[in-house]
Amino acid sequence: MKRCVTKAVFPVAGLGTRFLPATKSIPKEILTLVDRPLIQYAIDEARAAGITEFIFVTSRGKSALEDYFDEAPVLEQTLARTGKTALLETLRATNMESGAIAYIRQRQALGLGHAVWCARKLIGDEPFAVILPDDVIAGETGCLKQMVDAYAETGGNMVAAMEVPQDKVSAYGVLDPAGEQGDVLRARGMVEKPAVGAAPSNLAVIGRYILTPAILRNLERMQPGAGGEVQLTDAIADEISAGGDVYGFRFRGTRFDCGSKAGFLQATIAFALARDDLRDELFDFIGDVISMRQAAQ
Ligand code: UTP
Repeated sequence: MKRCVTKAVFPVAGLGTRFLPATKSIPKEILTLVDRPLIQYAIDEARAAGITEFIFVTSRGKSALEDYFDEAPVLEQTLARTGKTALLETLRATNMESGAIAYIRQRQALGLGHAVWCARKLIGDEPFAVILPDDVIAGETGCLKQMVDAYAETGGNMVAAMEVPQDKVSAYGVLDPAGEQGDVLRARGMVEKPAVGAAPSNLAVIGRYILTPAILRNLERMQPGAGGEVQLTDAIADEISAGGDVYGFRFRGTRFDCGSKAGFLQATIAFALARDDLRDELFDFIGDVISMRQAAQ
């Protein structure tokens, strides 16, 4: 099995209920951190990791995502005519080259595992990455690039892993680690949303994966698991039981859970503070807010 990963699946067919009513008509992945939609961060990270084929698993009501990656002739002409070249470049950088991006539909939101399975024919018989755009990871080197480099050595299947507080484990897929070497650990088990007392560790799986086609075959016969959804974690756990190699990768970077309101707001502040054009004004504002809070106490 080749160890070079050129295809990435972006499951974006979820209902995004935690952001209602916004997500009634806007896909969650179009929500913006400062001025870039979540999906743009995911695409940039994939490109930086060497991905050249982008597979979106979408659903009804997600057409704004398809439009986002398309040309916008009126906008482009207007910016060109008015000499706004920097903005024009920013805009053009979002256009995806023809043929690089494919959209398929998940007819019903039956779970992340089912969404990935929907992409099976486009993935074919080679390793592939999965990126969940609502997990945004800030850092010097993109998380997927770090994983692709590690994967070139290990092969097998790899999931991004991060320690979370023990009382938060039931919000995640959790690894049962065996040996550890550098950033890579071997998993001897994996369980989705365990009860706090039953979790094998506090190493949570974050939304970046490099998977082999064996996982797609496992998904083929997967029954709904935690939350009544077809879980990707269960298909990976089956692979471990069948003797396949599954590794956890401790990435370097700060992960924001942009699928939750608190995480999304934290990411917004962090990304704004990283910008020269916004930092000072935002710091002043935050300083005022803190002073007001202290005065009120
Ligand atoms: P989430 O668990 O965050 O679900 O999915 P969600 O529907 O997006 O949001 P909430 O919980 O209702 O607020 C994690 C990822 O898996 C995708 C989502 O789009 C998201 O990228 N997903 C989930 C699917 O593509 N299909 C599904 O059936 C479920």
